[in-house]
Amino acid sequence: MRTLAPFNDDWLFCPGDVDARTPDSSFQVVTLPHTNIVLPHHNFDNAEYQFISTYRKRFRLPEARDGRRVYVDFDGAMIACEVFLNGQKVGENEGGYTPFSFDLTDHLNENGDNLLVVRLDSTERPDIPPYGGVVDYLTFGGIYRDVRLRYVEPVHIDKVFARAKDTLTENAVVEIDVTVKNQSAGLQKVWVWAVVSELVKFRGELTPATSRLFDGQVVELEAGSEQTITVSGLWEEPQLWTPEHPNLYEVEVRLTNQDSSQRMDTIFEKFGFREAVFRDDGFYLNGEKIKLRGLNRHQTYPYIGAAAPARLQRKDADIIKYELGCNIVRTSHYPQSPHFLDRCDEIGLLVFEEIPGWQHIGDQDWQGISLRDVRAMIERDRNHPSIVLWGVRINESMDNEAFYTATNALAHKLDPTRQTGGVRYFQSSQFLEDVFTFNDFSNSVQEPEHTPHLVTEFNGHMFPTKSWDQEERQLEHALRHARIQDKAAGMDNVTGAIGWCAFDYNTHREFGSGDRICYHGVSDIFRLPKFAAYFYESQLDPAVRPVLRPATFWTMGDRSEGGVNPLVIFSNCDEVEVFFGDERFGRFQPDRQEFPHLPHPPFQIWGLNLLWGGHKFDDLRVVGYVNGQAVIEQQIEADGVPRALVLEADDAELNADGADMTRLVFKIVDKYGNRLPYTNQVVSFEIEGPAELIGENPFALMGGQAALYVKAGREPGAVTVRATTPRLEAASVTINVK
Ligand code: GAL
Repeated sequence: MRTLAPFNDDWLFCPGDVDARTPDSSFQVVTLPHTNIVLPHHNFDNAEYQFISTYRKRFRLPEARDGRRVYVDFDGAMIACEVFLNGQKVGENEGGYTPFSFDLTDHLNENGDNLLVVRLDSTERPDIPPYGGVVDYLTFGGIYRDVRLRYVEPVHIDKVFARAKDTLTENAVVEIDVTVKNQSAGLQKVWVWAVVSELVKFRGELTPATSRLFDGQVVELEAGSEQTITVSGLWEEPQLWTPEHPNLYEVEVRLTNQDSSQRMDTIFEKFGFREAVFRDDGFYLNGEKIKLRGLNRHQTYPYIGAAAPARLQRKDADIIKYELGCNIVRTSHYPQSPHFLDRCDEIGLLVFEEIPGWQHIGDQDWQGISLRDVRAMIERDRNHPSIVLWGVRINESMDNEAFYTATNALAHKLDPTRQTGGVRYFQSSQFLEDVFTFNDFSNSVQEPEHTPHLVTEFNGHMFPTKSWDQEERQLEHALRHARIQDKAAGMDNVTGAIGWCAFDYNTHREFGSGDRICYHGVSDIFRLPKFAAYFYESQLDPAVRPVLRPATFWTMGDRSEGGVNPLVIFSNCDEVEVFFGDERFGRFQPDRQEFPHLPHPPFQIWGLNLLWGGHKFDDLRVVGYVNGQAVIEQQIEADGVPRALVLEADDAELNADGADMTRLVFKIVDKYGNRLPYTNQVVSFEIEGPAELIGENPFALMGGQAALYVKAGREPGAVTVRATTPRLEAASVTINVK
């Protein structure tokens, strides 16, 4: 039988290219996911993470091998590595975004000590995508995703591809491609079985409910061969996977010997029943036309590069769906963490996933790696119901007929159920994909030359905006997103628009604001909202949650010429009522003139006269109404005096695994809890208990809000973080590490 053993603990790390003579005492004990360097959130040199490092892992087999093969599976390491077991090279890998495995069996010391060494090259290798040219993002270094040991019988399941057919009929069909590998020295005859189960939430966990065993199939395999067979069966009236009800199913694939007396392998994969098609007149999910509204996501975080554990990965999906109201995310510009994609499946967030690359196409060898990336991405991710499109063209690259004919053919062969896209920034280019995916920086939405058409980026560098920029810039930033989403929503020949981008991100010196950040996010690098985030949030269905966000810091003289005209409010309410202190200013409707196509147009309220003898400059109070009922209220203090230091952790509990992390947000706020965007107070932190603070401490605030991370140690206990700043009361938060 198969065993998967976690292999993230007790690695030794040395930030140098060292050999066996270097003692373990020169190494640091680390837990994966790991970044090769912890950096400030900005103001560093992008050369700092570029070096060769050495990881060692001393281990004994966690359980007896019993004739099985033992593999080490890496989910990802940036960007190239050579791996040695007990002094023997077991393999190498090029590429930082896709998984790779090595068979350790022949060099294992089964009953004694083993030493696994990874020589990891995290330099920007021009021979490996995305490099060769300059790239507008940082790749960071380290074994930054999970690693496992995998024991399998010499005859085992290698891959499973589960998909639904005829989904919208009464008798849906499940087809499961199972690839079986025979690493034994003789002919093998085995049975392949599949059990399909509906998953339901039970005590917060997805648990199999109704199950069905599909008819098994026999497979005969020559020594050293592999074969793919298809097991299929009917499923009547499946619960469809939709953004609102992301119902998931699980397939359990079993391998047995000929008379079924002995189980040799089992693999579980989740999948969903859904039909996703881009057509000339729109994107259809389960036969229903849905306008796509989304944002691009980079996988990097402040301080820790890309080495974010499962909890932070899942949180990003939640932020994009629930805080930014998106129905799609683009994993610009590479395959992202399996934890992120799992969460997209669970919450019903659609995904456009693409291969690593940025504008540059390298030579034949480079293209060979890129084709391997296509394969690795699709083989890893084709069971995810959330993924609706494969990106098989290097982002914004020039035409290359041979290369892109090959990437498209490979994608279609590996996954006949999904369409392909190829992101470009000019329309008159060769269209070899199924969907014309287009970065449209016209500050509008261009009339498509090709359909199906999806806008995959807009805004970004056209209007970089920091969370401490002057109010009118932050407002204009938000309105640019609103105008383009509105325009796209009104065009039947545009399937939707994915903005650049969800979060500010670290980048090379050739891009961004010189401090190694591109301030293109609707949220900052800590995932905290700017006004543009409020626009996206306001598109949520009010049944999910009423949203009411005045896009102002409510000052007399921050905007040019002073005052707050117009007062813009992002909200999904039908009406808003505005008060200045006790004075009622009026009740207003959303601006359907300027934004006729958005589900929830912004409110643009003119005629405020806060200056020179007009309305008394008092606190702003806004009440939101849905169906005539007051459902939400927001207030902003007129005073601008810092009232409190706020400290909040995203999670009350962490796992004592040495890698789990949660975000710790801190803000200086007015008496209603609104951040004060121009405070630059220094905040200092102290931590007590079995955890570590990751980030700059003390931290000089920018934009009135920022975040650190708390990283659990390997002991349980209560962790208390205390934050202090001059002139305000200290704040503290407690997290339980279990
Ligand atoms: C695009 C590119 C993105 C990002 C963006 C900034 O051209 O695809 O990666 O650089 O510009 O607006």
